[in-house]
Amino acid sequence: MDPFDALESNVRYYCRRWPAVFASASGSVITDDEGVEYLDFFAGAGALSYGHNNPLFVDVAVEHLRSGRLLHSLDTFTPEKRDFLATIQRTVLAPRQLDMVVQTVGPTGATAVEAALQLAQRLSGHRAVLGFEGGYHGMSYRAASVSASMAGRETSAHLKDFVALPFVEHVTDADVELLETTLRSSVNGQRIGVVIVEPTQGEGGARPFDPAYLAAIRRLTRELDILVIADEIQAGVGRTGPFFSFEGSQLDPDIICVSKSISGLGLPMAINLVRRSLDTWNPGEFTGTFRGNNLAFATSTSMMNHYWSDAALEKNTEQLAGTVRNALEAMSNTFGAGRFNVRGNGLLCGLAVGDTELAADISRHAFERRLIVETCGPGDTVVKLLTPLVIEPAQLDEGLQRLALAVEQATAAR
Ligand SMILES: Cc1ncc(COP(=O)(O)O)c(C=O)c1O
Repeated sequence: MDPFDALESNVRYYCRRWPAVFASASGSVITDDEGVEYLDFFAGAGALSYGHNNPLFVDVAVEHLRSGRLLHSLDTFTPEKRDFLATIQRTVLAPRQLDMVVQTVGPTGATAVEAALQLAQRLSGHRAVLGFEGGYHGMSYRAASVSASMAGRETSAHLKDFVALPFVEHVTDADVELLETTLRSSVNGQRIGVVIVEPTQGEGGARPFDPAYLAAIRRLTRELDILVIADEIQAGVGRTGPFFSFEGSQLDPDIICVSKSISGLGLPMAINLVRRSLDTWNPGEFTGTFRGNNLAFATSTSMMNHYWSDAALEKNTEQLAGTVRNALEAMSNTFGAGRFNVRGNGLLCGLAVGDTELAADISRHAFERRLIVETCGPGDTVVKLLTPLVIEPAQLDEGLQRLALAVEQATAAR
């Protein structure tokens, strides 16, 4: 009996696309139980920006596990939480002049979004939420309800006080007018109190909003007393170069949701950064058993100390992103017949091929060539590249060559 077939729910997904049994991993390479090595351009859907089993953090984790210190602590004080808070302040918040407090939430991105919406809706007094087409915020009831990319799935039936505007790549006056009219209108009898935005969309197709549009969101929401939540769960923690993908845009969010790569090691962890003046939670008002993952606090502290005490990682990401972009442009020019589009911000990149089956074929042929890439975007028409930020340049080149061969094979068959 194969336990996977016999016992695992039909809901399983990634294992259908990549039907290997993955047994070990290091950096940007995953090895299956027959010893076949795959280059990983998926990086745990963005949770492994610092690579698989990054030895810096494995050492911290092993030392922690053997030390007798706490693993689980709810939100009681621990040395690990103290160090984590001091480190995020020193390496992330203070350098960006962000006067924010840290709310630890249960370990998933969706939980951070739940908490952010709950606080923002209560603070604003207006329940309706504005989001964007292509936005994805998680599978819990409230997070799915503001995820326009969930349209057509069962969860979209719950959308009530939610309205989604189109994604804006290059802002026009008409986009800003539509934004203003919508923000001033009501949805289902409710005024809009909250805007939730992924400044660079992940599942929506690896695409950054025009920074000028993000600035317009902030200007109008300030005027209208509406709160802004930035969902940085996929694009944050360095994925696009800077720590947050909205940096330089004047979005200046009220709440920032952070998860995925924040532990450095792919451990479950999520937090919200909340503007200090808005931190009106009552003690225990939002709770959760797994908020105090000390192992993740310890590895996260190490990650921020190691990678965010200077600008070296950000520079390296920009450089690698240039390589990815050039390679995708070349694939687009050679195989796209004018129909492909290169997308992205930093190392959140995509090749929009405009066809669901073609994108799936490229991912399948890539897997046959021992390269792991997923698809995303409207109708899953974008081949998405999320390489680890710490990938070796030679591995990046090798993976991009495999991808080019996969694109060639998939397009030739048409
Ligand atoms: C932008 C964004 N927000 C929220 C989530 C939900 O995170 P989780 O799957 O950990 O609940 C995701 C997951 O892909 C995401 O990409």
